[in-house]
Amino acid sequence: MLKFGIIGFGFMGQTHAETINKFDFAELIAVCDINKDQLGHAAEGVETHLMADELLANDEINTVIIAVPNHLHLEMVKKAAQAGKDIIVEKPAAMNAEEFKEMIAVTEAAKVRFTVHHQRRWDKDYRLIKEVVDSGTLGDVYTIKNALYGFNGNMHDWHIYPEFGGGMLYDWGVHLLDQMLWMIPGKLTTVYADVRNVINKEVDDYFNIQLHFDSGISGQVELGTYYLTDKETWFERHWFVGGNKGSAYVDGFHPEGKIVRTSELLKNVPGKITMTAAGPTRSFGPAPEGRLVSEPLPEVTVNHDMFFEHYNKYVNGEEALVVQPAQILRLMSLLDAIRVSAKEHRSVSFE
Ligand SMILES: NC(=O)c1ccc[n+]([C@@H]2O[C@H](COP(=O)([O-])OP(=O)(O)OC[C@H]3O[C@@H](n4cnc5c(N)ncnc54)[C@H](O)[C@@H]3O)[C@@H](O)[C@H]2O)c1
Repeated sequence: MLKFGIIGFGFMGQTHAETINKFDFAELIAVCDINKDQLGHAAEGVETHLMADELLANDEINTVIIAVPNHLHLEMVKKAAQAGKDIIVEKPAAMNAEEFKEMIAVTEAAKVRFTVHHQRRWDKDYRLIKEVVDSGTLGDVYTIKNALYGFNGNMHDWHIYPEFGGGMLYDWGVHLLDQMLWMIPGKLTTVYADVRNVINKEVDDYFNIQLHFDSGISGQVELGTYYLTDKETWFERHWFVGGNKGSAYVDGFHPEGKIVRTSELLKNVPGKITMTAAGPTRSFGPAPEGRLVSEPLPEVTVNHDMFFEHYNKYVNGEEALVVQPAQILRLMSLLDAIRVSAKEHRSVSFE
C-alpha cells in the first residue's frame, strides 16, 4: 500500500489528493502547508501539519509528494530522504542540474525511491505522436515540431518571480522538453534557444528552442503565452512530424490528426506552374490528384492517473521506473544549456 504524505497543499497538492483518492492501492495519510487556509481543503481523517518535519515524523507514511514552489524542492527532498521516505517531487525537479545532482546523491545515500511527477509523458496527443515516430512508419524522421500557444501572458502568484523558479521554461518548458528527450533517439548535440519576456517583466513567457540530435532529427519546441487571437480553442498544442516516407500531425489536447503519405514520390519532373493564393509557383503547388493518401493515427489510451498506476507497479517490482533520475538530470542540464544559449544568443554544444 502506498501511504502518502503531501508537502505543499496548494493547487497541485490538492490535485494529488483527489487523484490518490481514486486508487485502492494508495491512501493519503497527511498533508502539510505553511498556509493554514490551505489545510482546510484536506478531507476528513487526513492529518494536517504546518511544518514538513512534523509530517515526516509520521512512520505510517512511506511516500512523500513534494508540491511546494520550485525553489524549495531541494530542501524538501533532502528532509524527506533523511526521514527515509520514498519521494515523488513535482516538476521542475530542481532549479538546475547542480541541485538535481544533490538530490540524486541524497536519495541514493538514503536508499529511497526517487522520481519526478512528469505525468505529461502520458498526454494523449504526445503518445500518439511518439507511437507514430517509434513505429518507423514515416521512414527517416527529420523534424519534430511541438508548439503550444495561449493568450494573456497569464502568469500568477510565485510564478512571476525568478527566485521562486517562476517563468514558462520551468512551468511548461520542462514538460515539453522532457517529451522530446523521451521520444527522440540519439545524442542531443546542439541547442539554440530564443527565450523572451514579452509582457512579463522578470520571467520568460515565450521560447523557441531548436534541438539537434545526431540521429538526424531536429526538434523544435515553441511556446507563447501571449499569442492573441479570437479563436475559441487557442490554448492548444500542435505536433508535426516530417519523415521521408510521410508526415503526421496531431492538433489539440483532445487530439485530431492524420498520417499523410504520397502514393508515389515525385521524381525530377519539368517545372509545372500552378497559380496559388500566394501567386504562381512551381515548388509549392498542390499534390497531383490522387497522390496524397491519409491514414488514421494509431489507437492510444492514456491518461495522467497512469503515472501513479505505473509508480505502484514499479514499487511492486512489476515495471521498470519510467521517469528515471538520470533522464531528469539530462533534462535539467538541457535547461541550463538553454539559459546559456538564450543569454549569449548562440548555439551551445550539448552531448
Ligand atoms: N505536474 C504538473 O502538471 C504541475 C502543475 C502545476 C504545478 N506543478 C508544480 O507543483 C508545485 C507547486 O505548484 P502549485 O501550482 O501547486 O503552487 P501553489 O502556490 O498553488 O501551491 C504551493 C503550496 O506550497 C505551500 N508552501 C510554500 N512553502 C512551503 C513550505 N516551506 N512548507 C510547506 N508548504 C509550503 C504554499 O503555501 C502553497 O499552498 C510546483 O513545483 C509546480 O511547478 C506541477
